[in-house]
Amino acid sequence: MQKPLSKRCFTASHARRNGKKGAKPLDAFKGFRAIADGRGFAVHLDNGAMQSATEAREALAEPYRRETHDRNSTHDRNSQRQSVGGVCLMTPLVDLKGKRGLVIGIANEHSIAAGCAEAFARCGARLAATYLNDKAKDWVQPVVDQLGIEWTAPCDVRIPGELEALFAQVQERWGGLDFLLHSIAFAPKEDLHGRVVDSSAQGFSIAMDVSCHSFLRMAKLAEPLMATGGCLLCVTFYGSERVVEHYNLMGPVKAALESATRYVAAELGAKAIRAHAISPGPIATRAASGIDRFDELLDRAAAQVPAGKLVDVSDVGALAAFLVSDAAKGITGTVIPVDNGQHLFA
Ligand SMILES: NC(=O)c1ccc[n+]([C@@H]2O[C@H](COP(=O)([O-])OP(=O)(O)OC[C@H]3O[C@@H](n4cnc5c(N)ncnc54)[C@H](O)[C@@H]3O)[C@@H](O)[C@H]2O)c1
Repeated sequence: MQKPLSKRCFTASHARRNGKKGAKPLDAFKGFRAIADGRGFAVHLDNGAMQSATEAREALAEPYRRETHDRNSTHDRNSQRQSVGGVCLMTPLVDLKGKRGLVIGIANEHSIAAGCAEAFARCGARLAATYLNDKAKDWVQPVVDQLGIEWTAPCDVRIPGELEALFAQVQERWGGLDFLLHSIAFAPKEDLHGRVVDSSAQGFSIAMDVSCHSFLRMAKLAEPLMATGGCLLCVTFYGSERVVEHYNLMGPVKAALESATRYVAAELGAKAIRAHAISPGPIATRAASGIDRFDELLDRAAAQVPAGKLVDVSDVGALAAFLVSDAAKGITGTVIPVDNGQHLFA
């Protein structure tokens, strides 16, 4: 004997229970319709009135129909609606699809450049990356494979001609460039670990050449490749503004890099080429391990930031992806901290 239908199917959960296990409400209701139609039952309503199976089916389906309609019409409205600028509202704001980006400075998966490359890739960018030399390539390759980076090339900015060869490859392979990340720094250990006043002319000049002037050279080489505009990023540190214990020589070098960024932004702005220096809080990377007592720097920062925790390379990557995107087309020439607020404290 069938149970009275009025007892079985007048709520969504009843309909679901009578359908296939795990089925969605609408699928479940199809099962009920077959039973009701096939047997031609009249349906007993809870208020005691009688209803045909068709009427009952309509009544039961109505909440689902309304819900589906609401969902679909919201989706349709959003997908068709245009913003004031005529862009479809379903297009993500930070969208790097079709943009070609060159990432310079991946040493391994812990590198800030690796975090940025991941964010660029997640936003749909096409990427190329560099490695310092053949020895370094083995550490870079896993990151390249994991992120689907299209091609790689060697780049030691101290080897004459290597930077030029890299940009010639960009021209040959892509015919242009949309953004570039300079995420490299170096200072000879003996100069880095001593007082700034004791730094040698040679050590200072090597640090400036690799960590700062190379950004200007990259900007110059990128300029003709960015025919419709672009974005140039470099990475700095708060030790440029304030004396940070043990940051030493890299302080004045980063100050120069930040100033260089402002001049790049001013000089290339007419060509819609933007430039920024991203300023992350301390992150444990290979380069950072060269700074004396870097662990203490990490501990101090963690104790200082309001959130009580340090940033990681994904935080830097998210900012970098935004800055190179069209969403940030009105922003240039800045030094932007991504440090959980550490820069707020003296
Ligand atoms: N880690 C931090 O706490 C921190 C904080 C603020 C800023 N930064 C800056 O971030 C950038 C990236 O450093 P990281 O911390 O990711 O360390 P990292 O060791 O992962 O990256 C440094 C990169 O510099 C490259 N490099 C060094 N000499 C080079 C040369 N002659 N030619 C080409 N490349 C060279 C290395 O190959 C390496 O890929 C640097 O500019 C660094 O000063 C780091």
